[in-house]
Amino acid sequence: MELLEERILNDGNILGENILKVDNFLTHQVDYKLMKEIGQVFAHKYAEAGITKVVTIEASGIAPALYVAEALDVPMIFAKKHKNITMTEGILTAQVYSFTKQVTSTVSISGKFLDADDKVLIIDDFLANGQAAKGLIEIIKQAGSKVLGVGIVIEKSFQDGRQLLESLGVEVTSLARIKNFENGQLNFMEADA
Ligand code: G4P
Repeated sequence: MELLEERILNDGNILGENILKVDNFLTHQVDYKLMKEIGQVFAHKYAEAGITKVVTIEASGIAPALYVAEALDVPMIFAKKHKNITMTEGILTAQVYSFTKQVTSTVSISGKFLDADDKVLIIDDFLANGQAAKGLIEIIKQAGSKVLGVGIVIEKSFQDGRQLLESLGVEVTSLARIKNFENGQLNFMEADA
């Protein structure tokens, strides 16, 4: 997605070896016009797939996921990282290990929002090692729902998230694919949409 790549080049900052800071438009301040465009691109790709739910994980997946849900005219569900006192029954959970933060957290979704007829599109802001998306796939499968794909805004292709998800038989669509950060320079490879 050219518009997204341009925005990353203009407003993204490389931190250390392998972190891209995009808090200006995606992970803190959010550009809703760009999110709306992103929503349209994913919705176009999955227009004929019969998607019934969009699933993401809090916090930064919520903005793009909501616009995908709007464009597909289906509900958006975000997995919670902290158990809420109102989540009392039928909770589906998965353990997610973050290589970046070196902690394992329990993520959860109320089972009442997913059922065996659901066809799910997972959306997330970043794909690094794929652990968050893998946890979401586990939860969706516990509900008996089908995962039809994972849509990613920014993939760091030098990490192994895509390989992990494809090894689980799930299609990955990334709007920007970062090949590497070389000498402070960001290089893209061809994106999926
Ligand atoms: P993984 O799910 O692909 O395995 O990712 P990993 O554990 O490595 O990443 C943990 C968190 O760091 C995730 O957000 C992920 O989106 C984010 N992250 C990974 N690489 C980058 C990067 O290069 N830039 C930025 N800005 N974020 C990155 P999170 O902890 O769930 O945060 P949030 O969504 O609550 O903000």
